[in-house]
Amino acid sequence: MPISDKITENLKKASWIRKMFEEGARLRALHGPDKVFDFTLGNPSGEPPPSFYEELKKLVLNPFPGMHGYMSNAGYEKTREAIAQALAEDTGLPFGPQHIVMTCGAGGGLNVVLKTILNPGDEVIVLVPYFMEYRFYIDNHGGKIKEVRTQPDFQPDFDALSAAISPQTKAIIINSPNNPTGVVYPESCLRQLGALLKTKEEELGTTIYLLSDEPYAKLVYDGVQVPSVFLSIRNSIVITSHSKDLSLAGERIGYIAIHPEIQDADLLFEGLVFCNRTLGFVNAPALMQQVVARLQRERADINEYLEKRNLLYDHLTALGFTMVKPQGAFYLFPRSPLADDLEFIRRAQKYNILLVPGSGFGLPGYFRLSYSVPKQTVINSLPAFTELAKELGLT
Ligand SMILES: Cc1ncc(COP(=O)(O)O)c(C=O)c1O
Repeated sequence: MPISDKITENLKKASWIRKMFEEGARLRALHGPDKVFDFTLGNPSGEPPPSFYEELKKLVLNPFPGMHGYMSNAGYEKTREAIAQALAEDTGLPFGPQHIVMTCGAGGGLNVVLKTILNPGDEVIVLVPYFMEYRFYIDNHGGKIKEVRTQPDFQPDFDALSAAISPQTKAIIINSPNNPTGVVYPESCLRQLGALLKTKEEELGTTIYLLSDEPYAKLVYDGVQVPSVFLSIRNSIVITSHSKDLSLAGERIGYIAIHPEIQDADLLFEGLVFCNRTLGFVNAPALMQQVVARLQRERADINEYLEKRNLLYDHLTALGFTMVKPQGAFYLFPRSPLADDLEFIRRAQKYNILLVPGSGFGLPGYFRLSYSVPKQTVINSLPAFTELAKELGLT
């Protein structure tokens, strides 16, 4: 075998993803791209805000010496100061640049954090359903994933969570607004989580990090705000990016922020910077660090996401699909009308609708629909959903 046994095994497990992409390409070639409704991707459909282009232009027209060179592995001091200042304003906590590490997106940031904190065999808890890459990120650094169920509304189930925490638990990953469900955890939930972690840390004599993966934090609707984990949980680390909120997914720019009062903050920061370097990221992209330093209060236009959420939510619920109304991100996670979500996905393909099965997020019996697509695709897809619902006897 030219590649490792583990990667061979992982490729086999993920083969349905490849099949889905192949099927999408086949349908597009057969019917034309505008007749295929591809709701599988998490790529932002919107463009970066005008302020992004203004800042980028200013930089490019006024280059400074060393602009494209290496900098500190933590990132530019000025960028980290700007982020720290925004976090300090939002939380009232004494954030400084010594609490921020610039990263290659949230994916890069999660790998850096896990590399820094995990000993072989340490357990990392994830809440089902979850972003499947966590499984691979945890395994990359010798950790063991532990899945914990959530409540029917996808909020944490504190009894299940409490029972899952063991002396081996090194971290819990949360993701709010959530991919795939779009749910947001309210402040009361974070406070309860903080209280549980404190009790468990005292009882077990261990440190349990709360890793809050927040790339969708600014994509929220209906006046909802994402409360800060820093106000409820001391041993907390936020990992985020501008992939979604500034529509910069391809630019790979994000950051890690550690709580100013986290245990052994200096050592943790040193470890993170070391791992950012030795995982081969070295530093986050230089030009993007300069640009986002000035855009901490900006976000891409979310009105179109909101319109598309409403169009699909209203249409699908009227057809008899059931789902929690998402308050953030750009996903819907309805219950599959067929117990076998893979079979449901196949039936949807007959109507040129491409979806991701809940199994892909550790929760069979559901499906994920990403409305990060052109609005016209959503509008054109509605009759196809009606036909699909009829075939399944929903309406
Ligand atoms: C929940 C979640 N976390 C992390 C990421 C990775 O984002 P980034 O592009 O910042 O690496 C994604 C991307 O889709 C995501 O959905």
